[in-house]
Amino acid sequence: MRIRARYRVVPALLLVAALVAGVAGAPRALAADDAPSDADWQSWKANTNVTDMASLQRGARDFAGYCLGCHSLKFERWSRLGQDLDIPEALLVKDLIPPGETPAGYIISPMVESDAEKWFGKAPPDLSLMARARDPDYLYQYLKTFYVDPARATGANNMAFPQSAMPDIVSPLEGLKIAVYKTIETRGPDGQMVKEQVFDHFKVIAPGSMTAQQFDQFTHDLVNFLNYVGDPQQATRTSMGVWVILFLLLFTWVAWLLKREFWKDVK
Ligand code: HEC
Repeated sequence: MRIRARYRVVPALLLVAALVAGVAGAPRALAADDAPSDADWQSWKANTNVTDMASLQRGARDFAGYCLGCHSLKFERWSRLGQDLDIPEALLVKDLIPPGETPAGYIISPMVESDAEKWFGKAPPDLSLMARARDPDYLYQYLKTFYVDPARATGANNMAFPQSAMPDIVSPLEGLKIAVYKTIETRGPDGQMVKEQVFDHFKVIAPGSMTAQQFDQFTHDLVNFLNYVGDPQQATRTSMGVWVILFLLLFTWVAWLLKREFWKDVK
């Protein structure tokens, strides 16, 4: 009888754990509303979600439209992308795959590497594993922190990756923005007050074709997509996990029934 009671405690504990997790998660959901300021760009989150198929599809479309001109995804085939993201082959060929390429081929940029080096001083890296090599949050911050810098050959600079050789190719969408700094006074090592310039916020000087919210969605979708490409198994693994948990729950129930059956005879 004692053992029975102890077993009954387990579901109760699980319920309490779920409630605590829910309550702990709630403030985070609320906090997402007041977006962090520009100065806090290092805390911006990509909030990737491999199960959000619509977002991944938009990310694939935007990658083909805005990034493939320079960047490849050399470890993924078009056909695999179509399968994983539920994009029919006819649509792949019509909208995403560059002319001359086939669904069986890898996702390769038409840009010739030697040309790219000549133009940008650096070949654009393959982005297949970029979300794993860096971090999705970093990619999100990178794409959102380009700003005008006349001192650079590209006319642009980047907060997350200072002196990046990549031109600000998102400015037609996001708009052109400049970085505004403010002066703060801090106490130096020898006790003297020193003035320091710190980044305060971005100021849009020429609007792009998207609202801030639309551009945010655009960036989120792209990073979500690159995060999927970095580990294409993720989507299947996540849905498999649900089945594994369901199986374990079912199995626990069967085991409990069995145990009850056996203990009947012992008593
Ligand atoms: C006109 C060519 C061009 C286009 C278009 C382009 N990039 Fe780049 N990108 C570059 C170059 C050049 C670099 C190398 C920068 C460096 O190492 O200084 C780069 C680097 C990167 C990096 C690596 C940053 C790092 O920390 O090393 C990422 C991520 C990236 N690009 C994402 C994108 C995405 C996403 C798009 C599409 C929205 C895109 N790029 C479109 C040229 C381009």
